[in-house]
Amino acid sequence: MMSQDKNDEITLVGADKPAGQVLRRYWMPAALAVELEEGPRPVVPVRLMGEDLVLFRREDDTLGLMSRFCPHRGVDLCYGRLEDGGIRCPFHGWHFGETGQCTEQPAEPDGSKMHERIRISSYPVVEKNGVIWTYMGPGEPPAFPALDCFRAPDSHVFAFKGLWECNWLQALEIGIDPAHASFLHRFLQDEDPAEGYGKQFRDKAAQSDMPMTKVLREFANPELKVEETDYGLRIIALRDLGNGQRHVRVTNQVFPCAITIPMSNEMTITQWHVPIDDTHCYWYSLFTSFGAPVDKKKMWEQRINEHRLPDFAPIRNKTNQYGYDPEEQKTLTYTGMGLDINVHDQWAVESMGAIQDRRHEHLASSDAAIVRYRRLLRSAIRSVKSGEGDLPLVLDEAAAEEVQGPISIDAIGPTEEWETVWTDRDAGRRASCSWDAALS
Ligand code: FES
Ligand SMILES: [Fe+2]
Repeated sequence: MMSQDKNDEITLVGADKPAGQVLRRYWMPAALAVELEEGPRPVVPVRLMGEDLVLFRREDDTLGLMSRFCPHRGVDLCYGRLEDGGIRCPFHGWHFGETGQCTEQPAEPDGSKMHERIRISSYPVVEKNGVIWTYMGPGEPPAFPALDCFRAPDSHVFAFKGLWECNWLQALEIGIDPAHASFLHRFLQDEDPAEGYGKQFRDKAAQSDMPMTKVLREFANPELKVEETDYGLRIIALRDLGNGQRHVRVTNQVFPCAITIPMSNEMTITQWHVPIDDTHCYWYSLFTSFGAPVDKKKMWEQRINEHRLPDFAPIRNKTNQYGYDPEEQKTLTYTGMGLDINVHDQWAVESMGAIQDRRHEHLASSDAAIVRYRRLLRSAIRSVKSGEGDLPLVLDEAAAEEVQGPISIDAIGPTEEWETVWTDRDAGRRASCSWDAALS
């Protein structure tokens, strides 16, 4: 059982909070690139780790991310004028340059030096495979690790996001809980795997004709193995299929707030759980294909039909009971909340409350990865506090090049060969990949 203080320590995201300080040592998704293309001009509000910001694209195509509210009398700079590489407030004309420094206060007397003392926050921004990333921490940002989702060309990666009304940690923890898929995402009938493009758990289980939905449903208590790696955790779920064969599913926690999991035989998902503030978060997914280029139009349509713009809020949500249908729960799905597994996860994490009250939880053996993750996070918190010790994945260019993969795959093989069956299958997929997916 956890004390309130201990729960606060790992959940709260303010700049002065322990977890908030760890999260600020990493690049975080701030927006999808497509968001800057949608409106009448490339300016969007961003709320990230409790800070209100404005993201904009300059005429020379570079990006800026600054505090959203003018430090004069607090108006919204999303309505500002994009001028001279920065933003000019429409209320009294104060101008903020690239670094956030106030450069002009045209309503002040000639010769006033007041602007020299005024500066707003401004954060570095980069665009990578459909996502705009920012670094809000101290010092130089770390290098991006050579994860598959960053190495793959734009044609093989599709990015999307969705809003969940809960703390980021419970959102992350559902992604490192392999047993829940056998229940929460159980389908009482199997669909034709050929119809499963772009959907989680709808392909055939690796090297078999069995739909993945059947494996999950019929083999519901996997043995879990959790190991620490250079990027976070590798989580292996083993399901004995009863015929001398074992199903191996390899998923990962990528520190501090991402997971990498298989989606289908061709695609993986790397998903960040990004705090908007203490009680809201976005999932940002990079769907990465090792086979054909991603059908982005189809992937977009599948997902945008379930979400509302501009905030990517799910159409099924707590105000409409997530579409819950007791009849469906008897005959078709375990939840009665439709076939989109994102809705199941959303219900699970939101129904815990805005911040899960971990004082009352009872962790079980199926929570092995969650326990290990919390230990990693607390250790990172201690490192930040003391200024000593390395943080996972806070690396320079050369070291970051060495962090690859991570391998995220389903495989089936003879029970005693489970340790090589998944690495072999992954090696085969990488060898035939059209982009350079080789692991060094
Ligand atoms: S409120 Fe922005 S310049 Fe006055
Ligand atoms: Fe799930």
